[in-house]
Amino acid sequence: MASVPSLAATVHQRVADALSAALPEAGAADPLLRRSDRADFQANGMLALAKKLKGNPRELAGKVVDGISAPELIKEIEVSGPGFLNITLTDEAIVRTLAGRAADDRLGVPYAENAGTTVIDYAQPNVAKEMHVGHLRSAVIGDALRHILEFTGEKTIGRHHIGDWGTQFGMLIQYLIEHPDELAPATDVDGEQAMSNLNRVYKASRAVFDADEEFKERARRRVVALQSGDKETLEIWQRFVDESKVYFYSVFEKLDMEIRDDEIVGESAYNDMMAETARLLEESGVAVRSEGALVVFFDDIKGKDDRPVPLIVQKADGGFGYAASDLSAIRDRALGLKATNLLYVVDVRQSLHFKMVFETARRMGWLNERVTAHNMGYGTVLGADGKPFKTRAGETVRLEDLLDEAAQRAAEVVREKARDLTEEEIQERGAQVGIGAVKYADLSTSPSRDYKFDLDQMVSLNGDTSVYIQYAYARIRSILRKAGETGPVARPELPLAPAERALGLHLDAFGDTVAEAAGEYAPHKVTAYLYQLASLYTTFYDQCPVLKAETPAQVENRLFLCDLTARTLHRGMALLGIRTPERL
Ligand code: ARG
Repeated sequence: MASVPSLAATVHQRVADALSAALPEAGAADPLLRRSDRADFQANGMLALAKKLKGNPRELAGKVVDGISAPELIKEIEVSGPGFLNITLTDEAIVRTLAGRAADDRLGVPYAENAGTTVIDYAQPNVAKEMHVGHLRSAVIGDALRHILEFTGEKTIGRHHIGDWGTQFGMLIQYLIEHPDELAPATDVDGEQAMSNLNRVYKASRAVFDADEEFKERARRRVVALQSGDKETLEIWQRFVDESKVYFYSVFEKLDMEIRDDEIVGESAYNDMMAETARLLEESGVAVRSEGALVVFFDDIKGKDDRPVPLIVQKADGGFGYAASDLSAIRDRALGLKATNLLYVVDVRQSLHFKMVFETARRMGWLNERVTAHNMGYGTVLGADGKPFKTRAGETVRLEDLLDEAAQRAAEVVREKARDLTEEEIQERGAQVGIGAVKYADLSTSPSRDYKFDLDQMVSLNGDTSVYIQYAYARIRSILRKAGETGPVARPELPLAPAERALGLHLDAFGDTVAEAAGEYAPHKVTAYLYQLASLYTTFYDQCPVLKAETPAQVENRLFLCDLTARTLHRGMALLGIRTPERL
């Protein structure tokens, strides 16, 4: 009995199944079905199969053409070139399959087969320091990956590994003990004040630290007090953390991003584990003592003079650093949280650190076939001049200013087009469009690559921008409102215009795209898909009147395509953490 395609199946899948059924000797071989310019799809799988079966690819392809029987699905199938198959679908199959998609809340996006638990390490700024554009990237990419993975059924746990520990706190805390009124309690300040307070304390303490040897010594002793859990020291340290969090949250809020307090688990959280981590490493022989320090060596990691570069777990003076906290974090995430995947969204410049940390954890068995780790090292954000993004004066750009400017520029764009929006609405949309533009520009570049931060380009209405997609969405919503009583209804019996077919076949690919983006940690595949969807919609809109179509049935069918496009755009953008306003 022929299998009944499930409602959520794609036409792509249905064609692939029909091809396999027509050629029993193909077994489970992939027909390599791709969208094509010549026909709807081209299947290239006969070439590899012929090699395997020692047959002739054109003959095999001919067999498929003779053996296939799916008249409701396939309108035309022909052999071409060395043994490709060009396949044209019936209009009916496209609309029927999309109708199944439309009935599904998830728009046909499949759940991953072996979903596990992924701990995502992202959005990890440092206490008492300004956030920079690198932290922006980590937050934006991590947040999108999290939505994408969750949607495919993966459980995700966020870990914001903030820099809240280390020797610099000795200086800061000691200064505050000696100048107790310099930092107001964090409750009555906003993010901007919080950061400027921290900056002031940082600068002032630094000045004393550099000028006064005795203070330096007191600061050093303060580090020891901090690491050994002295109560007064910890209380003051907490004030720095709290004040910084006020600032972090103000930036995350501007970014329209939800960060959970219980997932802010910084370096300090692993303080109690570090001694044990070191002991386990040393006892197992994975780490060795070298000039008093506890280190791990690697055959393939050497410095300039060809001497091995070790990972330092514990310094000769007994102090633990970044590596010890990361190794402890792996123990906690793999063994405590029982994660199956550890994903790090961290600047590519830290990739050597992670290479060494992961390799060490593998030697210890903390990472293995069941628990894997991956560092999504992202590239640098560049200015228009192609150099790392700085202000004209060469200073790092304040994130809040950057986000405010994006919102402002976007508001100008919205105002120009706005017909029936109030000033308040313009500002609100401006923020959604502006922040969306920043996120989209970041996400649409493959994460490992550098990209130029160019606000003009980002908020442009034309080209591969979120604004273009948001306008396409708002336009569809406006058509659906204007349709009034007439609703979207799939009409599989109607013939489709070329622009309708192209739009329909692209809608068909949403589920596969999301699955691929999740499997490869590649949000840029979603942006590329959405941009193409919006472009195909624009062509459809230009060529196919919707509300003024020829017959009532055609109006319904086109509204159906509009509605499914809007839902797909909305869902896709939500997966990226970007809003789609109903009106623009
Ligand atoms: N706070 C660090 C920085 O700003 C990034 C932390 C990355 N995560 C980690 N587990 N090491 O550079």
